[in-house]
Amino acid sequence: MSAIIEPSLESASRTEQLEKQRRFINAYWLRPENAFWMYLRSEALATVPMQGPVADLGCGDGIFSFLHADGVLSPDFDVFGAVARLEDVHSESADIFDHVDDGYDPVVLSNPAFKIDVGTDRKANMLGKAGHLKLYDRLVPCDHNDDLPFDDDAFETVYCNTAYWVENVDGFMREVSRITRPAGTVVMQVKFDVIADYTMRQHGDLLGDRWLNLMNRGRIECWPTVSDRSTWESRFEDAGLEIVAEVPIATRTHAHIWDIGLRPIAPMLIKAMNAIHPHLRSEIKRDWVDLFAELLRPFCSTTFDLFSDNAEPAELQYVLTPR
Ligand SMILES: C[S@@+](CC[C@H](N)C(=O)[O-])C[C@H]1O[C@@H](n2cnc3c(N)ncnc32)[C@H](O)[C@@H]1O
Repeated sequence: MSAIIEPSLESASRTEQLEKQRRFINAYWLRPENAFWMYLRSEALATVPMQGPVADLGCGDGIFSFLHADGVLSPDFDVFGAVARLEDVHSESADIFDHVDDGYDPVVLSNPAFKIDVGTDRKANMLGKAGHLKLYDRLVPCDHNDDLPFDDDAFETVYCNTAYWVENVDGFMREVSRITRPAGTVVMQVKFDVIADYTMRQHGDLLGDRWLNLMNRGRIECWPTVSDRSTWESRFEDAGLEIVAEVPIATRTHAHIWDIGLRPIAPMLIKAMNAIHPHLRSEIKRDWVDLFAELLRPFCSTTFDLFSDNAEPAELQYVLTPR
């Protein structure tokens, strides 16, 4: 009797993509809209070789870069285990992730494929979390509004997905240019301000301010320098950074899905999931991740768009080099 061998529907690289999607969903499960966005950033970043020495500016807890570098964490780990001030998240826009305690233990099942020389962030707690991943050689607390504490030409590759959080963005760009080697690579993943139009805000007359505030929760206000394409490009130009390539990360469709995410109910979900028995949490999480892995699959493509006309992307990756 001969065996019937079904042709594989998915190539090895497709299988790897799906596994990676699942790892992002697993880490950010209670905010599925953030999980797919992080995955899209990783897809775009994968187009750029990360030649060392590498700096990851605004690395936060390092989970994004760890997963991007093909690190694997225990399925029981996610970013919602170590949080605080859930009650203040709406009234005071508290950063619930700005907290770490002795119990923080991201169990690493497989080390990342490459290491990152330096990670920076202004929040010590976030760097404390990143320190558990064995991804960064050095974690340096600093505020990107100030001069960066690195020598001229210190890095071959500088990656940053947090530039639009920096008030002194022009000074920051000059500093990024200074610390990058001649012919080195700067990867800036930036949001465009048109993202505000890809939300329910355009129906504000019908929905009212209260509804919009409940849904929005101050997220766009914490990006002081989110701008349009020409402003970003002038900033790069003024800092002596030349554009080598542009890779769209998220379309108008992605932004609309992200707009109607689980943001308003996340504090309650996190509280509930952290209060139940770990076995039950794992069981619910497994089913949840299974479901969202399928639901989000169509959107895990940087070019996915349900609109027929070409609109400006919500987020774009610029690959730059010092002039
Ligand atoms: C949304 S998180 C992104 C973290 C990480 N890059 C990631 O992809 O998960 C934004 C991070 O930028 C950091 N950040 C914001 N403004 C900063 C500044 N002026 N200087 C240094 N870090 C800053 C925050 O502390 C936070 O950890």
